[in-house]
Amino acid sequence: MDEYADGEVGAHTFPVERAGDLEDPTRFRFCSREELLETLGPTPESAVADLGSGTGFYTRELAPFVGTIYAVDSQPGMHEQFRDLGVPTNVEFVTANVSSLPFAEDHLDGAFSTMTHHEYADPQSFATLARVIRPGGRLVTVDWSADGDGNDGPPCSERLTAEDTCAALEAVGFETVDVRRRPETFLVVSRR
Ligand SMILES: C[S@@+](CC[C@H](N)C(=O)[O-])C[C@H]1O[C@@H](n2cnc3c(N)ncnc32)[C@H](O)[C@@H]1O
Repeated sequence: MDEYADGEVGAHTFPVERAGDLEDPTRFRFCSREELLETLGPTPESAVADLGSGTGFYTRELAPFVGTIYAVDSQPGMHEQFRDLGVPTNVEFVTANVSSLPFAEDHLDGAFSTMTHHEYADPQSFATLARVIRPGGRLVTVDWSADGDGNDGPPCSERLTAEDTCAALEAVGFETVDVRRRPETFLVVSRR
C-alpha cells in the first residue's frame, strides 16, 4: 500500500509468503473461538463476514455456528491457501478490499476481523462497513494494540489503540458496546 510510509498504520499487508504462520495454533492465546462467538453472537441463520480472512484460521472456527460466512480477503493467494486447507460448505469467498465490499446495503448480520483492522483502517473501509452491516448488527474487531509491548505482531507504530478504533467506528455511525484491553491486543464490539 504505497500511500502509507513504512512504519505507519496501513503500511503493510500480511504477505502470502508467510501464510503458514497464520495456521499456528498458539495464536489462540490472543483470541479464541469462544470469545468471538460470545461477542459476535451469531445465530445458525446469520450471514457474517470475516474481514481479512487469510488462510481461514478463524473462518473455519466460526463456520459451524452461522448460516453463511463470507471469507473476505484482498489477496487471491490467501484464498488459494485457504482452499488447500479445506473449506466448510457454508463459506463463500469474496476477493475484495474492505473499502469496496460487494454486498448490498444491510446485507450482513455481523462481521469480525482478527489482527487485520490496522491493515484496512481508513475512512472508506469504515464507511463501507457501516453500509453493509444491518442496523443492530455487530462488528467485532480484535487487533494488535498500540499500547502493547510489540513482542508479537507488527511494530507498535503500525498499530492502533482501542480508543482509536472506537472513535473511527463511531464516526461512521457505530455504537461501542464493549471494549476489552489485554496486554498485547484489544477487542472492540460495535453495533451498527
Ligand atoms: C494478519 S492477516 C490475518 C488473517 C486472519 N484474520 C487471521 O487472523 O488468521 C491479514 C489478512 O488481511 C488481508 N487484508 C489486508 N488488508 C485488507 C483489506 N484492505 N481488505 C481485505 N483484506 C485485507 C490480508 O491479505 C491478510 O490475509
